[in-house]
Amino acid sequence: MYATVLLFVFMCWTASAHADQPQPCRSPNMTGLLSLKGTLGEVRALGVFTYDSMHKKLRFQSNSSLSMDVTLDLDLLVFFEEGILYKIGKNQSCEKKSLQSKNHPFAIPNDATYISTMTSGSIFIEGEGLKFQIWTIPTPGYKGQSFMCATMGCLPLSTMFARESSGFVYSNLNVELDIKDPDLLVVPPFCQGLHVEETPEGTVYDFYEEFL
Ligand SMILES: *[C@@H]1O[C@H](CO)[C@@H](O)[C@H](O)[C@H]1NC(C)=O
Ligand SMILES: *[C@@H]1O[C@H](CO)[C@@H](O)[C@H](O)[C@H]1NC(C)=O
Ligand SMILES: *[C@@H]1O[C@H](CO)[C@@H](O)[C@H](O)[C@H]1NC(C)=O
Repeated sequence: MYATVLLFVFMCWTASAHADQPQPCRSPNMTGLLSLKGTLGEVRALGVFTYDSMHKKLRFQSNSSLSMDVTLDLDLLVFFEEGILYKIGKNQSCEKKSLQSKNHPFAIPNDATYISTMTSGSIFIEGEGLKFQIWTIPTPGYKGQSFMCATMGCLPLSTMFARESSGFVYSNLNVELDIKDPDLLVVPPFCQGLHVEETPEGTVYDFYEEFL
């Protein structure tokens, strides 16, 4: 895993020698599919997401019946600004958790560092290449590495996330630039009035933790 990461960084580094330094941008509102692949290529999660980039709200629902490989059934409603994550279970159960890190695969964080700009496919043939920026993302609180690729219009394409022995790639697919169903971003009645669960001392809880 680390060898791959190092190669990736090296490639990015050499390509960046003469580039100027873009600043992290704000992603648009989005509806799309999120897929999460593990190191062995297994699809851990696949499902629809809705992201409100102005209020930093997210809904993601992974459905294991969509694909035979998918192992996680997840329904997450996240308010990144407030640092609150609701984990919605079957039968209208609900957990309310507090986030110590606001990183997630739908926005470039303000403390990201620009590495380089590249084109996937062809630079020379119109419509046959996709130009994107690569960013490194700090991973405070634990040993890990994270990179994000985003289009020139600030649409996150994929986020690579490695933590000690595990590594994941989050990909955003079939994205549309609006919110189809705003109701998905509203706290359901059965989640209201819950107490926030305590995060064990010395641990960092974030969005990625739900996928480990
Ligand atoms: C994103 O969606 C929110 C909520 O629907 C809306 O208030 C906001 O204006 C939208 N932002 C853009 C850039 O469309
Ligand atoms: C998962 O998908 C199946 C088939 O499309 C559907 O019947 C089921 O309600 C979905 N489950 C959830 C939790 O969305
Ligand atoms: C799940 O829902 C069913 C029907 O509404 C109910 O009988 C059952 O007690 C619920 N189970 C849990 C664990 O809440």
